[in-house]
Amino acid sequence: MFITFEGLDFCGKSTQVQLLEKYLIDEGKQVIIIREPGGTSISEKIRDILLDKKNSEMKFETEALLFAASRAQLVNQTIIPALEKNVFVISDRFHDSSIAYQSFGRGLSLDFVKELQKFAIKNAIPRITFFIDIPVDEVVRRMSKVKKVELDRIESSKVDFYDRVRNGYIELSSNEKRFVVLDGLLPIPKLHEQIVTEIKLRM
Ligand code: TYD
Repeated sequence: MFITFEGLDFCGKSTQVQLLEKYLIDEGKQVIIIREPGGTSISEKIRDILLDKKNSEMKFETEALLFAASRAQLVNQTIIPALEKNVFVISDRFHDSSIAYQSFGRGLSLDFVKELQKFAIKNAIPRITFFIDIPVDEVVRRMSKVKKVELDRIESSKVDFYDRVRNGYIELSSNEKRFVVLDGLLPIPKLHEQIVTEIKLRM
């Protein structure tokens, strides 16, 4: 089964990915965890280019293509072979991140970004996608806790960006049946319980 986790930065995806991995392993399943962008040596190199603060001149188009390139490598090298062996694949972000961030967030054409995903992922469509939803002011709260600074002008302008990304996720999840929307403000164990319930329904 191919399972993906989506949501804004600081929504708590990574914690839930780890808890689900442990649950499935305890159930005797074979599981691989993937983080996007990354997951293969080529994709990790692309990740470094994408996340490097020195690359501030990167154009949105370049960014979208690099995310797709990283994903195409991961799908063909890792995800498809694992699914063929009936291994559970859990990905911390996948193609919906590109639709939410590059199209809704950055403003690139929705049709183009969707087509690009089709090209990159082929038939590797997740069986279930957990969208862990938190309000944007909660992102800001969690972000400022980590950075221990008040938000400056640039960081505040990110609020608009996150608003658009969140709206993108909300739109995607209302249009596609594979989405399960979870309240990211719930306590960690409660969220995990809801995730396990949804997985059991599909096993
Ligand atoms: P990362 O440090 O992995 O953040 P997170 O733990 O929140 O996943 O950085 C990934 C960043 O890249 C994150 O801000 C979301 C963004 N992103 C996109 O813009 N498009 C994509 O297709 C993907 C996979 C990630």
